[in-house]
Amino acid sequence: MKRQWWHKKVAYQIYPKSFNDTNGDGIGDIRGIIEKLDYLKNLGIDIIWICPIYKSPFVDQGYDISDYYSIAPEFGTMDEFDELLEEAKKRNMYIVMDLVINHCSDKHEWFQKALAEPNGEYADYFYFVKGKNGNPPSNYRSYFGGSVWEPVEGTDKYYLHLFAKEQPDLNWNNPKVKEELFKMINWWLEKGLAGFRIDAIINIKKDLAFPCYPPDGDDGLVSVTKMVEEVKGVGEMLQEMKQQTFDRFEAFTVAEVFNMKDDELPKFIGEGGHFSTMFDFSAHILTNGKNGWYDAKPIDFAAWRNVMFQSQLQCQGIGFLANIIENHDEPRGICTYLPKYAQGEAGIKMLATTSILLRGIPFIYQGQEIGMRNCRMESIDEYDDIGTKDQYKKAIEAGLSNEEALEVCYAHSRDNARTPMQWSGKDNAGFTKGKPWIKVNPNYSDINVESQMKDEASVLRYYQKLIALRKSEQYGEVFTYGDFIPAYLDHEKIYAYYRQLSNFKILVAANFGEKEMTLEMEHDRNEILLSNMDVSSHIGRKIVLKSCEAAVVYVGQ
Ligand code: GLC
Ligand code: CA
Repeated sequence: MKRQWWHKKVAYQIYPKSFNDTNGDGIGDIRGIIEKLDYLKNLGIDIIWICPIYKSPFVDQGYDISDYYSIAPEFGTMDEFDELLEEAKKRNMYIVMDLVINHCSDKHEWFQKALAEPNGEYADYFYFVKGKNGNPPSNYRSYFGGSVWEPVEGTDKYYLHLFAKEQPDLNWNNPKVKEELFKMINWWLEKGLAGFRIDAIINIKKDLAFPCYPPDGDDGLVSVTKMVEEVKGVGEMLQEMKQQTFDRFEAFTVAEVFNMKDDELPKFIGEGGHFSTMFDFSAHILTNGKNGWYDAKPIDFAAWRNVMFQSQLQCQGIGFLANIIENHDEPRGICTYLPKYAQGEAGIKMLATTSILLRGIPFIYQGQEIGMRNCRMESIDEYDDIGTKDQYKKAIEAGLSNEEALEVCYAHSRDNARTPMQWSGKDNAGFTKGKPWIKVNPNYSDINVESQMKDEASVLRYYQKLIALRKSEQYGEVFTYGDFIPAYLDHEKIYAYYRQLSNFKILVAANFGEKEMTLEMEHDRNEILLSNMDVSSHIGRKIVLKSCEAAVVYVGQ
């Protein structure tokens, strides 16, 4: 595999609105990120992905961009952003921004011009399509509920939006649109950005016939994913973008891709692929219900281990996936993937161990490193997220009571990950001196950075050690380039794998069960490199793992 500058790096995702507020307006800001660079460096982070900070009406928290060339005043100024780039560089850190180019905001100048002249040049920047027999052009349901088609006032046309109606889709068949977008990407890369996290990118290719499909719900609509899955040819668009932009800068790109066709993995992340890497969402997909969050089933350990191992094996020899246990679109990983009895500190460290040492690029989401949890809201009004409001409505329509629907949101809402970062036990968790834009999780007096920093045995300190081990001189090669080999699959509650590179072999083993388990080792001489419980550093032919115990063992050859 050809070596790339980002192969051995560890990444961290910042949700800027909830990270660190320095001017007391209750909203995190760029200065707040600068202030915490040393903290991140100390944790072992190299690459920082910042969720959208462009100018936006914030209908979908910045994923609705109204000006790609300016910083939202809520977050600061372009000068401050330049300072952030500068400060990151001083520390050998890399800044990656979100690239949201499937759609823009309805307040973007292009869309405003399109509305003003529905037959003019700018209408063709979007999909302005005539209805069929008084109905919208097709029966697709948007990702946030309702039709993807919104009438264009004063015309017989509709415009397309796969997400909210305030997020009109950009027309990638129009060369001018591509040219504008590529120019913008290059402008940011020239500034010194290391790359992008690329939002919702699989959606840019549309079937221009917009065929109807059989409905999959009582609303008579069919999920727009159906069209996305059926249509071919997204690869050509992605290659063109890569050649015109990322390739020229050796940029690092990590894509958000759902619904990829199975045999396309090499084209996406293989040698010369569309992206450097893409997120592994195989675990998250298991948390989807058939009709919505309300009929989702809790994670089944065997199924979870199976999908995770499958994706590890599938990308072996092809490229790297980006591994996560949570992000800004998911609830906190410890609440989803750990059974109740394992949600204490040992379990949290165990989940961290199994995730961070997988083959691929680890991405840590803000607060994950201190074990932040889901946050209970008292009513639907306390939620901000557009997706949560839709899912709550769905649950109520399906007959759930208010309490039951809130319980569903507590388990699944994207806002679980969007509550403010818990820096200390002080007011508002030290996130702001003002009124936070969204509720702070009341558990901040127990779970916060300041106290964990002082405690050698904390989750935070464990993350530090884990990352240091992954990147160490001695083991960095095997954790980066070593094969992934599933281990102890016949043990029901054991999550274990080897990482192997020539004569280096390391076992990562964790006991997700409630009972102690004994594993027979291949050799007599085994050395413990890291463990989340106090165990002796040398073990013989057997390793005994208590409930929630994880061990990283050098097993040699
Ligand atoms: C991606 C983002 C999500 C956003 C959506 C629309 O899935 O991660 O937060 O709502 O795209 O841009
Ligand atoms: Ca602020």
